[in-house]
Amino acid sequence: MLRLEEITPDNLSAAVNIKVRPEQEGFVAPVVASLAEAYASRLTAWPRLVYDHDRAVAFIMGNFHPDNELEAFRCGIWRLNVAAEEQGKGDGRFAVMAFCEEARRRGSRRVTVLWEQGEGGPEAFYLRLGFKPTGEMLFGETVGELLLG
Ligand SMILES: CC(C)(COP(=O)(O)OP(=O)(O)OC[C@H]1O[C@@H](n2cnc3c(N)ncnc32)[C@H](O)[C@@H]1OP(=O)(O)O)[C@@H](O)C(=O)NCCC(=O)NCCS
Repeated sequence: MLRLEEITPDNLSAAVNIKVRPEQEGFVAPVVASLAEAYASRLTAWPRLVYDHDRAVAFIMGNFHPDNELEAFRCGIWRLNVAAEEQGKGDGRFAVMAFCEEARRRGSRRVTVLWEQGEGGPEAFYLRLGFKPTGEMLFGETVGELLLG
């Protein structure tokens, strides 16, 4: 029963209230910072809330910028925050797949993500979803790609 919603004045505070576990905070920006970036990059940013019935459970922000000089930023996941108490239920997978569906709809066959290495980080999650490291590092982070079938 998961679905995506756009960010609106009605669900803004639900979005901002999504908090990851304290030990994960070094791996992703707070939602409020991502929404500020989305505002500043509103031609390319794609911020969405994931709902489980009436509960906002996760936030994902993609970036669609086909002519970005960095290939890793042309069609990629920029942020993903699953609420601490909702993790391990498939919400992260749903958010990534929803982003991939949007990417496919826009004609892309490759999506990227950057992740920071480290204990408690999201590497195992992205590998489980089929992302493969490209061998590049950008801003100290691993670049992963997923080719869409
Ligand atoms: C990483 C994160 C997005 C995963 O979200 P989630 O909703 O808990 O993940 P899901 O329940 O959708 O898991 C999907 C699969 O990945 C696996 N997985 C998830 N987190 C994992 C981890 N830390 N280590 C190993 N496997 C993991 C799950 O077991 C599941 O595998 P399955 O196919 O065998 O069932 C979430 O933990 C999070 O928000 N972390 C903090 C912020 C962060 O690091 N964001 C990414 C920034 S790039």
